[in-house]
Amino acid sequence: MSDTPFRIVGISGSLRRGSTNTGLLRAAQEVAPPGVSIEIADISRLPLYNEDDNIDGGPEPVRAFKNHLRTADALLLATPEYNYSVTGVLKNAIDWVSRPVADSPLRYMPIALMGAGGQFGTVRAQLNWRQIFVFTESYVMGKPELMVLRNELYFDAQGNLTDQALRERVKLIVESLVAWAHRVKSA
Ligand SMILES: Cc1cc2nc3c(=O)[nH]c(=O)nc-3n(C[C@H](O)[C@H](O)[C@H](O)COP(=O)(O)O)c2cc1C
Repeated sequence: MSDTPFRIVGISGSLRRGSTNTGLLRAAQEVAPPGVSIEIADISRLPLYNEDDNIDGGPEPVRAFKNHLRTADALLLATPEYNYSVTGVLKNAIDWVSRPVADSPLRYMPIALMGAGGQFGTVRAQLNWRQIFVFTESYVMGKPELMVLRNELYFDAQGNLTDQALRERVKLIVESLVAWAHRVKSA
């Protein structure tokens, strides 16, 4: 590992206080290897996307979010599944930073997906994200995958991950993302 820290920005698709997806990101912070930092971005202050306002970098919270992503070596998304798809809040955040296309921090950005949900463990939401990131020319890691089925078994009421085996799988995602980003960069 080099002296320069490897910076991952984590984004949760749920604004809920007890969110299990935000809990996955907190767990990722805890298990990140030395030399790897994970900062969780706050998307709760982003306005709804309006093309009329997307001039000169957009409103202040959008500019701050965009600049935060520009500091990242990779993104780690924790996505719930809403109505068989991605959540509106996270799609809104990604829409903001996807334009203008030529200047988007998503372009050539290594991204890993994970998600905690119910019976199908966010599988449909994650597939939808893979499709969305084709347009943004982001490099989504293929495997390993992390889809947490029946999240109530693995998190407490505050959304803290309480299961050691799952914590190890989160660790594998973080380590694999770092390796993936290095591979993508050297290609
Ligand atoms: C509007 C809405 C739609 C949902 N749709 C789905 C769904 O299609 N599939 C699913 O597995 N869970 C669905 N859920 C349940 C969420 O996946 C579950 O609440 C999950 O814990 C949310 O993640 P969080 O703990 O990070 O907030 C839905 C929840 C909401 C509020």
